[in-house]
Amino acid sequence: HRLLLLNGPNLNLLGTREPEIYGTETLADVERITAEAAASRGFVVRAVQSNHEGVLLDAIHAAREDCDGIVINPAGLTHTSVVLRDALLGVALPVAEVHISDVQQREEFRRHSYVADVAIVHVIGEGVRGYATATERLIDIIAGQAE
Ligand code: DQA
Repeated sequence: HRLLLLNGPNLNLLGTREPEIYGTETLADVERITAEAAASRGFVVRAVQSNHEGVLLDAIHAAREDCDGIVINPAGLTHTSVVLRDALLGVALPVAEVHISDVQQREEFRRHSYVADVAIVHVIGEGVRGYATATERLIDIIAGQAE
């Protein structure tokens, strides 16, 4: 069993990027936290981060071949990207949406997510630990569907 972990633009800067908002843990920490949460339930994780929308779309399309679900923090594309939304709908895999910060409590433009109604799990504002929570919830749903 495999999950795709997708991190969108600027998340490669985690750790040094606006640490008062996103904390000091790095993308490597996020990928390790997610892999550990998945491994405890027998899943492996393919981690992809990109600053390029098309690379994210290609990774979503490829996931259709060999993944059971997608954990995604679309970053700024959350609030702008119809094509990312369409890609997730297109592959029809179960999706968990993660945001490190509480996007409801920040600028108005962060309140709308093009991914929210496509995702079945939402973990928002729990810091990088939210990736573990989202991974566990998504695997619970995947495992439940397999029964
Ligand atoms: C984010 C929130 C987005 O609004 C922002 O553009 C990001 C990160 C988060 O994890 O809190 O890049 O997705």
